[in-house]
Amino acid sequence: MVGAAVPQKVEHQLTDKGYVPVYATGVVDQPWSGYSDTDHQVWSELYARQRQVLAGRACREFIDNQARMGMTPLRIPKFDELNRALQPATGWQVVGVEGLLPELAFFDHLANRRFPVTWWIRKPEQMDYLSEPDLFHDLFGHVPLLMNPMFADYMAAYGRGGVKAHALGTEALTNLTRLYWYTVEFGLIRDPEGLRIYGSGIVSSKGESIHCLESDAPNRIGFDLARIMRTRYRIDTFQKTYFVIDSFEQLMRATEPDFTPIYAELAALPAIPAGEIHPSDTVITRGTGEGWSTDADT
Ligand code: PHE
Ligand code: FE
Repeated sequence: MVGAAVPQKVEHQLTDKGYVPVYATGVVDQPWSGYSDTDHQVWSELYARQRQVLAGRACREFIDNQARMGMTPLRIPKFDELNRALQPATGWQVVGVEGLLPELAFFDHLANRRFPVTWWIRKPEQMDYLSEPDLFHDLFGHVPLLMNPMFADYMAAYGRGGVKAHALGTEALTNLTRLYWYTVEFGLIRDPEGLRIYGSGIVSSKGESIHCLESDAPNRIGFDLARIMRTRYRIDTFQKTYFVIDSFEQLMRATEPDFTPIYAELAALPAIPAGEIHPSDTVITRGTGEGWSTDADT
């Protein structure tokens, strides 16, 4: 099997999110010469399609940094080449992994400015959706903003905060995970040019890139740290609520304080359902809720 590019899935494990694949958790060299023509083709098509969708929808920082890193639609990028641009810019580097990592291993990578990227790419029939992160989501979606010094610092601080929350227990971890979800994965930002996307889960999805800005269904609410930490989310449908920051600086400042007392206060408060508006919210748009599924939020 020399050179064959096959993900090392170890087993499936039952969690609160159903059965999830468990992967070998070490760092691996990107098996670049093992990518098939189809793999490169999937990258090319997704890249070209998303660049088009994201013009005027993703924030400037994302668009400009993606080009600056040297990602192109021509072929799957080599991690080493991207690192030559990324490392001098912010001290971050991309490392290859087999897939989702255990929480603590993931936090440790981030705290040390290593972003774990799943080395394998989805199949052509999964262009619009797949249920776990692949190379396109991780690399196209997450890595460009690591070129931005402020966002780069935020991600490293998140990693350190993760190590701490992990030691505090599952409730703290749940609070922190929601923050990641509603900022890093599904965040919106108010740019001078208008409402824009910065969340990786959005920029790597054509459907959600359009939905999050143009649909009447979702709520759009001003960023509020403790509120976000109480808010459940959707893992298998578009989000019911998006949280909007005014700047990466706002995000940095709001997350600088020690979260330990915040976790303690939140422990006494109930979680907020994904689609619910709360009395203290700064509502930017109140969603119609059209098409929302009624099954349970995560
Ligand atoms: N300030 C947080 C803490 O004390 C750490 C953190 C920073 C978390 C940035 C998320 C983002 O836990
Ligand atoms: Fe992600």
